[in-house]
Amino acid sequence: MFISSILAVALAAIPAVLAQDYSAAHNVTPISGTWSSGSKKVITGAGFANPANMTFNYPPVTGVSYAFTDDGFYEVARYRFNGNGTSIARIGCAAFHGDRSSPNCITGVLNWHHGTHTLNPNGSITLTPFGDGYQQIQDPCAAESNFIEGYNTTEMYMSWQIFMDPVDGPKLHLFQADGTPVAPLFQVYSTANMLPNQLLRNVTVTVTDQSAALFVSNSARRWTPSGVALIVSGAFTVGLAPLLL
Ligand SMILES: *[C@@H]1O[C@H](CO)[C@@H](O)[C@H](O)[C@H]1NC(C)=O
Ligand SMILES: *[C@@H]1O[C@H](CO)[C@@H](O)[C@H](O)[C@H]1NC(C)=O
Ligand SMILES: *[C@@H]1O[C@H](CO)[C@@H](O)[C@H](O)[C@H]1NC(C)=O
Ligand SMILES: *[C@@H]1O[C@H](CO)[C@@H](O)[C@H](O)[C@H]1NC(C)=O
Ligand SMILES: *[C@@H]1O[C@H](CO)[C@@H](O)[C@H](O)[C@H]1NC(C)=O
Repeated sequence: MFISSILAVALAAIPAVLAQDYSAAHNVTPISGTWSSGSKKVITGAGFANPANMTFNYPPVTGVSYAFTDDGFYEVARYRFNGNGTSIARIGCAAFHGDRSSPNCITGVLNWHHGTHTLNPNGSITLTPFGDGYQQIQDPCAAESNFIEGYNTTEMYMSWQIFMDPVDGPKLHLFQADGTPVAPLFQVYSTANMLPNQLLRNVTVTVTDQSAALFVSNSARRWTPSGVALIVSGAFTVGLAPLLL
């Protein structure tokens, strides 16, 4: 009787525990720290972005990086090219130049933002930006081949898990809202390598304000494969399977 009531209490407590204790239920380590894909050359923090003047320090190779703190902040750094002469790039070229064979139409995107993250009870993560994020799009096939714009999109990741890789240690798998996996992320630091968690450049919320001409609303431009494909190809909506990281 006593034991069964303890059991009942314990069982009743499990859903709440599972819902909150990500380090035990989801993961071999907490999500806090600094994570980077592939060759780990793209890393959040001062080495990547200079928000005050909206510039980037170009990493030697492409990749993505995420950093999370225990007290709810995040930062994201991404540097990607879409495929070299792959269908997306060629469709982009074709759309602009009618040239399907140009080898030069590789679109590069550098993207940086930071803000607060929430670990939701259903296992998803919400990244809510402060508003000073920005990205640089380089598309040699577009009318405007290189431009910088504000990026303030709230990102949702439907789930995440951290495994222990025998060689590389903790490995974070993030899944975007549509289920697309982010490239596996390795833990480069157990703490978050980040720029200060505050607005790092002045932004105007209303896009009608001409003083904020550089800032465009990004509701239509999301960092998803289809979002990038839309930027690249305009009217075409195709998957970005050959995306290189
Ligand atoms: C932007 O800011 C960074 C960091 O302060 C500086 O190193 C860089 O020279 C600046 N770039 C431009 C174009 O002003
Ligand atoms: C693109 O493909 C060509 C031919 O395969 C190759 O020589 C070149 O190095 C590739 N460029 C990049 C950026 O991968
Ligand atoms: C999970 O929770 C988040 C935040 O409350 C919500 O936006 C999202 O739609 C939920 N996902 C599912 C599959 O219910
Ligand atoms: C950026 O997004 C956040 C969250 O939606 C919002 O609170 C903030 O006002 C936005 N900032 C700008 C400059 O649009
Ligand atoms: C925003 O502008 C004000 C007034 O010009 C300046 O004092 C402040 O340092 C700026 N903030 C940032 C983050 O650049």
